[in-house]
Parts: sequence; C-alpha cells; structure tokens
Amino acid sequence: MLKIVRTTPYTDQKMGTAGIRKKSTVVEQPNYIENFVQSIFNVLGGVEGQTFVLGGDGRYYNKIAIQKILKMAAANGMKKIIVGQNGFISTPTSSRVLLDNHADGGLVLTASHNPGGPKGDFGIKYATKTGGQCSSAVSDKIYAETKQISEYKTLDAPDVDLSKIGVQKLGNMEIEVIDSVTPYVEMMRGIFDFEAIRKLFAGGFRFVFDAMNAVTGPYAQRIFEQELGAAKGSVLNAVPMEDFGGLHPDPNLIYAKELVDIMYSDNAPDMGAANDGDGDRNMILGKKFFVTPSDSLAILTDNYKYIPAYKNGIYGVAKSAATSTAVGRVAEALNIGYYEVPTGWKYFCNLMDSKRITFCGEESFGTGSSHIREKDGIWAILFWLNIIAATGKSVEEITREHWAKYGRSYYMRNDYDGIDVDLANKLMADLEARLPSLKGKTFGQFTVSEARPFIYNDPVDGSSTQNGLVVYFTDKSRIVYRLSGTGTNGATLRVYLERFETNDFDKNMQKFLEPLADVSRQIGEIVERTGKAKADVLT
Ligand code: G1P
Ligand code: ZN
Repeated sequence: MLKIVRTTPYTDQKMGTAGIRKKSTVVEQPNYIENFVQSIFNVLGGVEGQTFVLGGDGRYYNKIAIQKILKMAAANGMKKIIVGQNGFISTPTSSRVLLDNHADGGLVLTASHNPGGPKGDFGIKYATKTGGQCSSAVSDKIYAETKQISEYKTLDAPDVDLSKIGVQKLGNMEIEVIDSVTPYVEMMRGIFDFEAIRKLFAGGFRFVFDAMNAVTGPYAQRIFEQELGAAKGSVLNAVPMEDFGGLHPDPNLIYAKELVDIMYSDNAPDMGAANDGDGDRNMILGKKFFVTPSDSLAILTDNYKYIPAYKNGIYGVAKSAATSTAVGRVAEALNIGYYEVPTGWKYFCNLMDSKRITFCGEESFGTGSSHIREKDGIWAILFWLNIIAATGKSVEEITREHWAKYGRSYYMRNDYDGIDVDLANKLMADLEARLPSLKGKTFGQFTVSEARPFIYNDPVDGSSTQNGLVVYFTDKSRIVYRLSGTGTNGATLRVYLERFETNDFDKNMQKFLEPLADVSRQIGEIVERTGKAKADVLT
C-alpha cells in the first residue's frame, strides 16, 4: 500500500567527493535515508518507468537502507531495480551492471574505506546513467532539495528476500536479484590475458590478497583462486562482515597491517594486494616493497601494451592535481593526452566519455580505466599480474626500471585531522590570499617558482572548478593543499608533498620529504593555527 510520509529536512546532506558519508548514528535518524533518496528522485523529475542498480559493501545498515530504498523506489513508480544478491555489490561492479543494462541510475551504499559498524560510517553514492557520479550542478540541486523536502513516498510492505537469485515483484516494480560476481569476472576476462596469469600462478608465483572482511572477498576468491589458480587461501579476510571484523578497510601501509606484515616478512610472497570496503581502491606490494599509487598509475600506463584490451593503443591519461607528476612524464614520452583534474572521480568521467583518456588515477589508492566510470581495485591488481606474467619481472624490478627511465617522484600525503571547520576554511582562504606574495621567496633549500589555486576548466562541459592550492618550487618540488571532502569528523587538511630525483632511488622517503613538510607547515601557518606540530597521518 502506498504511503506518503511527512518529513522534516536535514541540513547536512550535501554530497562531497563521493556522495554523502556520515556516522552510522547520523544516518539512523528518522527519515534520514528517505529524505536523501527522495530528494534524488525529485531532482530527476521522478523515476517512473526507470531502472536502477542497487547494492552496497555489506556494512552495518546496508540491509536496512536497501529495504527502505526498494520500497521507496516501488512507491515512486520505478519499473525495475537490479540488486546484488544479499544486497552486496562492489562499486566497480555496480558501474558495469548499470552500463550493461542501460539503467537510468544507481545507488551504492558505502562509506568506501571508512570503518563500518554502529560506531562507524555509512554513506550513499549516487550514479547517473553514465555509470559515474553526477555533476556538481546536479548534486547542488539535490542538496537544495534535501533542505526543503517535506514528504516522501514508500510502500507499506514486508521486507524483500534478497538471498535468492531471480526476478520478483514489489508492488508493480520488478526486482531482479543478480549474482554480482559473474558480470565482474566476465568483464575482467575481456580485458586481461587470463591464460598468461594462469601460467604465472601454475609456475609457483605466490600471491596474497587482503579483502579486509569487505565486499571484494567473494570476487577475489572467484577470480584469483578459482579462475586463475592462485593457491587456496591466497585471499585473506574473505568473508564480508557488517563491521569489517573491526578492520579499517583502507588499503594502505597503516590499516592493511596483516598484509603488510606478511609482505615484509622474510618468507614474503611475490606480490601482495588489498582493496577497500567497496572494492574501488587498491594497494600493490612486492616482496618488502611498496608501490605508491602515483607510481602505479605511471607504471600501468607505460606498460599498456601488455594488456590485450589496450594493446592497440590508449587515448590518454589523467590524474588528480594532488597525485604526483610521475604519470605526466610517461604521457609525454608516449605522446598521449594528459590531464590534471580536481580530486573526485567524477572529473575523469567526461574525459573518458569523450575518448580523451583511457586510464586515470589518484594518489589515494585509486586507479581505473574507461571500462567503467569508477576506480577499480581488482582491475589494477590484474593489470600488475598481467605485466608480471608478460615480462617475467618482479614488482620491484618493474618499479625500479620505471624510475631509471623516468626519474622518481618521492611523494607523501600529510593529513591534519579533526580541525575545526571554520578554522580550516580560514586557513585555506588566508593562504590563498598570500599565494601571490610567495613567488621568488626562499624557504630553506626551496625557492618558490609559482603559487596559485588549482583551477580546472573541463574541456567537455566548459565548467570551471577550483580545488586546492599549489606551490611549485624551482627544483620541481611541489606542495598541494586541500580540504578533504569525505571526512566525517571536523575538517581534514591534506598536504601533498613531492620531490623529484633522477639518481638516488633508495632515499628514505619520509626523511627526504621532511624538509618540504616543514616548509609546508611554515607556508600554511599550520602549527600556529591548528596547534598541531606534525601531521596526524602520513600516507
Ligand atoms: C578522498 C580521496 C580522493 C577520493 C575520495 C573518494 O577524498 O582523497 O582522492 O576520490 O576520497 O574515494 P577527500 O577526502 O580527499 O576529499
Ligand atoms: Zn572505495
């Protein structure tokens, strides 16, 4: 039975870098999810007759939110909704299923790499029919709608059983429950040389993947163990859990501790990898060796010809401004298009749709290609495995050869967490005002060659976006400052540091970047303003 429910708006439903991301306790407030979802439907002019894809990374509240959304979709006249079995779907798979089914939109319930559980985070990402996120103009409209919404539609109906694959009805809406692993496996089979990777594993190549008790466990077991023949048990923490078993499903050196310990032990396997909660981020490790995401993007791009799907050529490559410049040198050598965009995957999508780029990536462990409109964790890992299978070289050898050819960008991100929002905004505004005065000034061994806000003019839709502030130095060092758009606790100031080196590739990264980190604090007046002598998190 159709029900129209009166509601009062919340004022905090503005989408950030990747949808809305909130504490679970916030999302559990009455009508919180309903307001946001109905606002999307309203801004679309209604969803009557439309098809959507729905699923999440299985975190706490996934089950509840899915039932709410199914009932709302049916009440709003949606024709069909495609849902992952048990409500699970990885972000990359959702993008693929959406494109394959010519769906009108998609909702992925995830807070990505943030912890889950009642005390963790929850979130919703909205995708358009392109398989990627909506433009800022649309998310602004949705935000405006959330601030004035007064009612939503839902059905008074029992919960839907999402455990069985197949088609069922809710009101007049068709619900198709799919095995979301299969379409993803088929997509990967169409891109990479599975036969070559199978031979690699058959030859004794040792591999370990940490699914961090999140959505990619079943995908990884099927692809790496069953399809490609990696040893049974190669996939760690393979069972998705509502609280990720207490893990923080962020694939980096700090949070993927179990994997890092294995890869830095004396009996380390040949390669290690991890994904985040919803499967779009990746980390790549060799034996006692870490590949920075910025280097990974550069290395994948340089080796595109080993991959069947790309061997006839690639269009170009893009990175977020904060990401190191390593891939820029590759783009120049390959003579392909090269773009620097603001942080947030949506900026890559126009470039992919218009065939300007094939690959793209961010320093924050995100790499992807035009096969979908999201970053893709397992894709990046298969890309590495395919290069290793084709060249017979190790992760470390491939990376060192890359540095020898192009030089090395030593690179780190410093995060200052939990800053008061007004204070952080003022820090950035004041720094922006000071930028013109920095040119030519010397800080220790570094002299500023240029300092300006990063402004991106989208070549496709003509929009202009400012994201962060960049200080360039005469020795090719760079500092980028920006505020996080995904935090759930005050403001996070991110400071990205980069130094270029053509000879010595064995410097201690942190030591080498420390003088630049000091300069970044000085230029940003970070210590005086935030009271923090050092960054809280270094990645
Ligand atoms: C962070 C990352 C960014 C990524 C986003 C979503 O956003 O820095 O690269 O696209 O998460 O995964 P931020 O918190 O910096 O706005
Ligand atoms: Zn993610």
